[in-house]
Amino acid sequence: VISRVGGGAAPATGADPAVEWDGSRLRILDQTLLPFREEVIELRDAGEVAAAIRRLAVRGAPLIGVAAAYGMAMAARDTAGDMAALDQAADALRGARPTAANLAWAVQRVVAAARAAPTGGVPAAALAEAAAIEAEEEAASAALATRGADLLAGARRILTHCNTGALAAGGQGTALAVVSALAERGPVEVTVCETRPLLQGARLTVWELRRRGIAHRLIVDAAAAGLIARGEIDAVLVGCDRVAANGDVANKVGTYGHALAARAAGIPMVVACPTSSIDLSLATGAQIPIEERPGEEVLRAAGEVVTLPDTLCSNPAFDVTPAELVTALVTERGIAAPPTGERLAALLDAP
Ligand code: MRU
Repeated sequence: VISRVGGGAAPATGADPAVEWDGSRLRILDQTLLPFREEVIELRDAGEVAAAIRRLAVRGAPLIGVAAAYGMAMAARDTAGDMAALDQAADALRGARPTAANLAWAVQRVVAAARAAPTGGVPAAALAEAAAIEAEEEAASAALATRGADLLAGARRILTHCNTGALAAGGQGTALAVVSALAERGPVEVTVCETRPLLQGARLTVWELRRRGIAHRLIVDAAAAGLIARGEIDAVLVGCDRVAANGDVANKVGTYGHALAARAAGIPMVVACPTSSIDLSLATGAQIPIEERPGEEVLRAAGEVVTLPDTLCSNPAFDVTPAELVTALVTERGIAAPPTGERLAALLDAP
């Protein structure tokens, strides 16, 4: 632990970055400890970055891309331009979590920059690419926030899932960046799904919304469909980890159920992500690798065992929402409403 930041009761500033490059190390806010302990830890090499991604100390699709890019920059420094060793570090980082497109995308960008660098210039080129990725993701957050708030103008009661704020992406995040932009224009009330089993909604989204001063209430995941059916929600707004070429989206497990409930109630189901989450190499969502996490996470709630210890568990961390249930995909380059193959390809072609 190198420092404690902020304070649970601090006013909204959004100023504490979830990842910060200090010139030789990556400092991250350890998200496994939030909301009760705000501790920054230092990651000194690519292996430590991969381990932090695996244990969700740093998480959220765009943010693990940024962290992995700096992990690659440290690998380039530590291997002094040895491309075989750099490839090994890339494999370890890519393997840390399988579902988010942004992870492999960011690693690949740094590998390409390293390969294109002149002899002796690999470490500098890798670091410059990591910094570029971080800056681009921050700009993407701001741009998609404005587009999303324009799209959702008039929606006041927003239901969201997992955590999609500054703890998950550059800038103010993805879906939570849209929420912040909406809140600047008028009153907003966010219904936060707790997001079992690791409680990213209860632990992280509540922490962020309190700091931003945005009204919110916490619900158990199973309450969402009933509240939507009762007319208490104007729109479902989530982030995503990977978008397939046909517009199917993978996001935190439980998202598909919210999409079905939104469709049944006739309210919009909006997905916000940077274009780095779009993976045109996969034809449909059925091909998206879904991370299966340890059953131990289901056996426990907030650390306490809640069932018989040897109970068989299934713990898929994500599910796939078919494109036909997505009203709009909001990105920094534009909105695909609904997301179709043609619209996604056009977005990626756009400058
Ligand atoms: O397993 P996590 O906590 O990394 O899951 C994150 C999500 O599912 C987010 O909704 C997603 O990455 C969207 S990001 C802004």
